[in-house]
Amino acid sequence: MSKLDKVLERIDQNLDQSLDRLFELLRIKSISTDPEYKGDCRTAAEWMARELTAIGIPSEVRDTTGHPMVVGHRVADGKPGPHVLFYGHYDVQPVDPIELWNADPFDPQIVTREDGSKMIVARGANDDKGQLMTFVEAVRAWIEESGDLPINISVLLEGEEESGSPSLQPFLDANKEELSKDLALVCDTSMWDKDTPAISVMLRGLVGEEITLKGPSKDLHSGMYGGAARNPLHVLSDMIAGLRDENGRITLPGFYDGVLELPEDVKEMWQNLGFSTEEFLGGIGLKDLGGEKGRSGLEQLWARPTCEVNGMWGGYTGAGFKTVIPAEAHAKVSFRLVGDQDPGKIREAFHAYLKSKTPADFELELHPHGGDRALRMDFDAPALAKGRAALTAEWDKPAALVGCGGSIPIVGSFKRTLDMDSLLIGFGLDEDQIHSPNEKYELKSFHKGIRSWARVLEELAK
Ligand code: BES
Ligand code: ZN
Repeated sequence: MSKLDKVLERIDQNLDQSLDRLFELLRIKSISTDPEYKGDCRTAAEWMARELTAIGIPSEVRDTTGHPMVVGHRVADGKPGPHVLFYGHYDVQPVDPIELWNADPFDPQIVTREDGSKMIVARGANDDKGQLMTFVEAVRAWIEESGDLPINISVLLEGEEESGSPSLQPFLDANKEELSKDLALVCDTSMWDKDTPAISVMLRGLVGEEITLKGPSKDLHSGMYGGAARNPLHVLSDMIAGLRDENGRITLPGFYDGVLELPEDVKEMWQNLGFSTEEFLGGIGLKDLGGEKGRSGLEQLWARPTCEVNGMWGGYTGAGFKTVIPAEAHAKVSFRLVGDQDPGKIREAFHAYLKSKTPADFELELHPHGGDRALRMDFDAPALAKGRAALTAEWDKPAALVGCGGSIPIVGSFKRTLDMDSLLIGFGLDEDQIHSPNEKYELKSFHKGIRSWARVLEELAK
């Protein structure tokens, strides 16, 4: 029996204990956006550092101006292959609306379906505690079984990913040398479907902005003032409506600069994935594609930029009716970016547009939120081929090279600040309801995810 086979066997035998440890982590309420859970975030960081140290990666909790980082290293001279930096995040999204959960989000449950398949239900079951623990458990199995790891490994765990990673850039700047390795391994993305593993080779970027529009000096009676006094909610709605034309294209000047057409080989690869728009939209109670006309569903999701209103409020929204003209209107708007779109230029164009639409006697306040470029991995990178070989061996199906509509800002920072490429392997499914009530992770994802990383570590050493 090869070393790897023994490691895989140990993973199978110890699955229950691996689950127990994941459940311990899932019980910690590490919601990074809500100051009330600051202590829980630290508890999660301490738990991770303790766990990593116990399995043989000496790790410590490092303070930042926000939630702490966890950093660890296990390095020996003369190891083959790249020295990798594994990245994951121990923070989770808030749980609201809590009434839609079938159980306490921080009391993880195994739910068995009629067909016998099982899922882990809890906040963070997938994003990102379940995912990051697949790697940790693979490392544990390697060290326990063989006394060592095939390659040198460092670990960086973050506690602010779900709140825009404010401390990350200063931390990378201050610890460049320590963190700059040959390759980053990131476990925060999805599989193609429940049987088909995937490596994400494109990530969309993000530009967010909160808008406050102030009009009259106070809320007004719409009978006394309506008609004569301009309504901030109307002005804001007009601004937002004007951002997209009838073909679903964004109207900001220069917005499409740097948006690249998909290379033919990628187009073909994606066509062969057999994506069904009907099924995808059917799963969320919809029928018609909402993005740019003339673009396929996958293109709209992975390779085209968007503009979304994430929230819009103002005036009276309570029970009953109040005939009011509000003094203020608010919105949170974000753009997903692709190709070489420049987040700075897009923000500038957006600001200029909003200013041009602001009436002279109104006041416009803008609060930027995040700004990251899209990313495209090098398709010919040796690590990509090795990762693919390892996944293909575990799942008996070729690993798909997919896009990711979401954003993982750290991947850009790794490239820019540390000159380090990333390999994005994750075992989540689109239907895992990350960020939503009843978030889940397939037990199969967790189990085979651990086995997959065990294989990737060996493959990278070759
Ligand atoms: N794990 C997600 C990224 C992701 C989303 C992967 C969808 C696969 C499918 C990550 O935690 C996330 O939610 N990122 C945010 C980033 C933002 C807060 C800067 C996102 O994409 O909205
Ligand atoms: Zn995540």
